[in-house]
Amino acid sequence: MKLKNNSTVGIVGLGLMGSSIAAALALKGQKVIAIAPMASDVDETAPDRIKSSLSKCREEGLTAKTPDELMSNIHFTSDYENLKSCWLVIECVFEDLVIKQEVFKKVEAVVADDVIITSNTSAIPISMLQNHLKVPERFFGMHWAEPAYTSPFLEIVCGEKSPVDIGEELHAIATNWGKRPTLVRKDIRGFITNRIMYAMYREAFHLVENGYATISDVDRACKNDGGQWMAFCGLFRYMDLTGLKAYHAVMKDLFPELSNKITVPKLIDDIARADGNGISNGKGFYDYTPDEAKKWEETFERFAFDMHHLSTKYANEMEELSSIKKKNEKQL
Ligand SMILES: NC(=O)c1ccc[n+]([C@@H]2O[C@H](COP(=O)([O-])OP(=O)(O)OC[C@H]3O[C@@H](n4cnc5c(N)ncnc54)[C@H](O)[C@@H]3O)[C@@H](O)[C@H]2O)c1
Repeated sequence: MKLKNNSTVGIVGLGLMGSSIAAALALKGQKVIAIAPMASDVDETAPDRIKSSLSKCREEGLTAKTPDELMSNIHFTSDYENLKSCWLVIECVFEDLVIKQEVFKKVEAVVADDVIITSNTSAIPISMLQNHLKVPERFFGMHWAEPAYTSPFLEIVCGEKSPVDIGEELHAIATNWGKRPTLVRKDIRGFITNRIMYAMYREAFHLVENGYATISDVDRACKNDGGQWMAFCGLFRYMDLTGLKAYHAVMKDLFPELSNKITVPKLIDDIARADGNGISNGKGFYDYTPDEAKKWEETFERFAFDMHHLSTKYANEMEELSSIKKKNEKQL
């Protein structure tokens, strides 16, 4: 299988993430065919949302082009036939196996057999999704983070039948989109960051539900410890920076004490069952008035741009050192 990058990318599903990915690609000059499976996506939300993201990118100095110039890279449609011109399709619909399978069927009915199809699934195993395709080896996970136009994060995930060399090519293309991507060479549920983050979420619930700390104290501790260094160097480099022998000693005593519960914590279960969804409806681990919710959303967006500038500055500075030293990385 050969990868034919003709620079037109299809996105199916224009909710929060599909819109954000469309903005990220348009920002880099990629032509995008944006498929709206639901009329309301294109009639009501997606174009305004994408244009607003692009204007913020211009205000923040991420592009010299006007939002209208960048929007001309995107063709909105509900007709899957338009995907014929794409070399890559990014599925970004609701996290539901059946809905995703229906979308793949529609995409495969119109595109050639060498077009790469990817899913932005957060947690459905890629090998499971892949097995429902007519041409399974064309399929990869492409896991983006919100907001896709500021976050450098992207996981390319190989399923059991995905050729790793094509994964490597996708990795190189994503790097040209300004991402600092990772390649998951062997499929595993949750990929890299969700596995690590959910291990942290489990321990956070354990501490709160058992009365060791309040919700706000757990948040404060995370912001001021890991939150201060993770964006700079990640976990393994941090152990190198601060003396790995100390971690070796603590692991022996602490690992047996950490939570290994496998059920959904009652704290989140109660809120979700009472229809709490956090900022979007004001009911979460904290309560929000509409004004407070708006302020948190706006400030988070401003923070994401500031982090983008800061992490780009340090990533560029350390890039040369990292690539020279890569061969010195421990191999298992
Ligand atoms: N929100 C995030 O931060 C985030 C991060 C990483 C990955 N993801 C993943 O991205 C995907 C989309 O998430 P989102 O947050 O954009 O969701 P969303 O609810 O904002 O959008 C979902 C979109 O799915 C489409 N859709 C809904 N029902 C459909 C149907 N029956 N048939 C076809 N299309 C339908 C519509 O275009 C809708 O706008 C999910 O798989 C999610 O797990 C989300």
